[in-house]
Amino acid sequence: MQIIRSVDELVGYVAMQKNHHHSIGLVPTMGALHAGHISLVERAVKENDTAIASVFVNPTQFNNPDDLKNYPRTEEEDIRILAQAGVAAVFVPSVEEIYPDGAKPEKVYDLGTAAEVMEGKFRPGHFQGVAQIVSRLFLLARPDRAYFGEKDFQQIAVIRNMVKSEGIEVEIVDCPICRDVDGLALSSRNALLTEEQRSRAPEIYAVLRASVEYSMSHTVAETHAKVVALLDSVPEMRVEYFEIVDASTLLPVEQWDEAERIQGCITVYNGSVRLIDNIRYRPLSSESV
Ligand code: PAJ
Repeated sequence: MQIIRSVDELVGYVAMQKNHHHSIGLVPTMGALHAGHISLVERAVKENDTAIASVFVNPTQFNNPDDLKNYPRTEEEDIRILAQAGVAAVFVPSVEEIYPDGAKPEKVYDLGTAAEVMEGKFRPGHFQGVAQIVSRLFLLARPDRAYFGEKDFQQIAVIRNMVKSEGIEVEIVDCPICRDVDGLALSSRNALLTEEQRSRAPEIYAVLRASVEYSMSHTVAETHAKVVALLDSVPEMRVEYFEIVDASTLLPVEQWDEAERIQGCITVYNGSVRLIDNIRYRPLSSESV
């Protein structure tokens, strides 16, 4: 596996792959890799001639400086895991390499209304930062396909809008959420939980799952209230937002028959650690009930 640290080297490497007519699959990450990331990587390896992963903790998408400072960094281990997963090259740039003029917004991306709700409301500027780094990575790595996890459900919708408004030709491939055996969605932030917080964290998915069954005999408003009340009653947990939305527009629905696909998206503070998860309400699937 090639370890690439500079933009010039990445551009050269990609040009060589294109000369050989190799298809390129890109997996952007912020490192601290876990099985969720690896599921994306394995798919990229399988579906492309050349799989490239990037590991870069992007400062412009953090609206909270403490979150950026505390974000886990495990570069050596990440490189080892990626090599083992069969990645052809890993791009591990420094902040200066990506943002020579300083890590700040350079333009305003048109990300549609999908970027204004939920994470967009609670993390101002977050999706602009995501669009900035992902569009930069797309322009440098010129992937045929790029892989993203449904754990960040809204991120995928926003990136699809960005690709359209920027006119970038790439297939966005969404991949299912990987969970721990107890149901907790894998996340780099799980490493920041105390033992006690970690033991309570599976409640998030347990409540979401139970709420799918509940939703079959209750209204959207009742289901919403139930989820919030149950999770708010867990020690150290506080729901920041829970939205039951049309999966294509990400706008809230009031009735279960209002959209073909309905998703529940949640953010919960477990102590000071912010965890996100989501579940499908409609169409009903055997996985969720
Ligand atoms: P990061 O949080 O490192 O996630 C990288 C990719 O892994 C994202 O597409 C995310 O949705 C996916 N992922 C994380 N946990 C997952 C899980 N449990 N199951 C399936 N997929 C999972 O998301 C980012 O980084 C950044 O915003 C990035 C897109 C790299 C831009 O900086």
